[in-house]
Amino acid sequence: MPSKRQSLSSLIQSKTLLSYAAPSTVGRKKAVELTISPTQTIWQNEAVMLHYGDSLDLYHQWDVPTVIISDGAYGVLGFNGDPANHGDLPQWYEPHIKAWSERALPLTTLWFWNSEIGWAAVHPILERYGWRYVGTNIWDKGKSHIAGNVNTKQLRQFPVVTELCVQYVFEPKIRGLSLKQWLLHEWQRTGLRLREANQACGVADAATRKYLNQGHLWYFPPPERFELLVEYANTHGDVGGRPYFSVDTINPLTSAEWAKMRAKFYCPYGFTNVWQRDGLRNAERVKTQQGKGIHLNQKPLDLMERIICASSDVNDVIWEPFGGLFSGALAANQLKRRAYAAEIDATYYLYGIERFIPTPK
Ligand SMILES: C[S@@+](CC[C@H](N)C(=O)[O-])C[C@H]1O[C@@H](n2cnc3c(N)ncnc32)[C@H](O)[C@@H]1O
Repeated sequence: MPSKRQSLSSLIQSKTLLSYAAPSTVGRKKAVELTISPTQTIWQNEAVMLHYGDSLDLYHQWDVPTVIISDGAYGVLGFNGDPANHGDLPQWYEPHIKAWSERALPLTTLWFWNSEIGWAAVHPILERYGWRYVGTNIWDKGKSHIAGNVNTKQLRQFPVVTELCVQYVFEPKIRGLSLKQWLLHEWQRTGLRLREANQACGVADAATRKYLNQGHLWYFPPPERFELLVEYANTHGDVGGRPYFSVDTINPLTSAEWAKMRAKFYCPYGFTNVWQRDGLRNAERVKTQQGKGIHLNQKPLDLMERIICASSDVNDVIWEPFGGLFSGALAANQLKRRAYAAEIDATYYLYGIERFIPTPK
């Protein structure tokens, strides 16, 4: 059999259905149907679109994302195009981050996978383009990850068994103000006393203590409370300044519109930000017929499922710009989300799309 890389280019030329030996099921064949145009090569089913190519060329044609899963360069020469050093990561990521910001909505969550130093290097770029840090999740692969592989006499640091998955949301700005600032600004415009906001919302002190707070205690008013705030302000506030809490300066935001001003998050019961889970070694690992792992960075499906479930609903759109073996898109598909993903390397691409195709009996 020709190498995967060769077979993809011949496939693209022949514009036909490809059948080739599945990597993990020796002797069997899988039929892979690709949509090939002069500019694009795509594998798709009813909910997933997997592109062979550079995601930078594709973002503009993907539906707006509820979730972006970024698992790109780590600065460790992990794949063709991964820089040798974390110092080069800001430059590597910037065009992608810029493109994400141009398409993201306030309800979009970004999950940024990387090493500790890789993430630290890229964080300022994410902030510059409007991504607000929410929290860091640490994937602890446990001691078994390094078992039998550590020469403590030579090591100059503790052995590393972790990766990070950092959560960001896309911070909306209204006339240059963050939501926190805008809420207070609008209330002050009404000329009403601050504590009247509590009365407006029917709460003891939550409005002044949380919703109009400008510090770390700020809390996004639940849509039903926001509605009460808006109603009160537009009934009792200074007539000359109305409407209050309006983005278009014509109508105040409705509670449904307000609900979409922040990312979704469903906290799973019993989990913390430390994810204790072995490295991927079982049958889920995609291997060559000789038993060699195809991709150094293949992520476990259960971790991908966890972040997707936490930040999206059925039918929502998930982006996976650095597909590898498309673990994020596969998890999304299994969870009945829609997914757009890209992989630039032909070998990874072909092994990746095979994961979506059931092995023939
Ligand atoms: C860290 S790996 C992702 C592994 C993946 N999460 C998985 O579970 O298999 C990053 C992948 O991004 C691909 N890549 C790098 N730059 C890309 C780009 N501009 N467009 C599409 N894919 C890219 C690399 O070839 C590599 O396979």
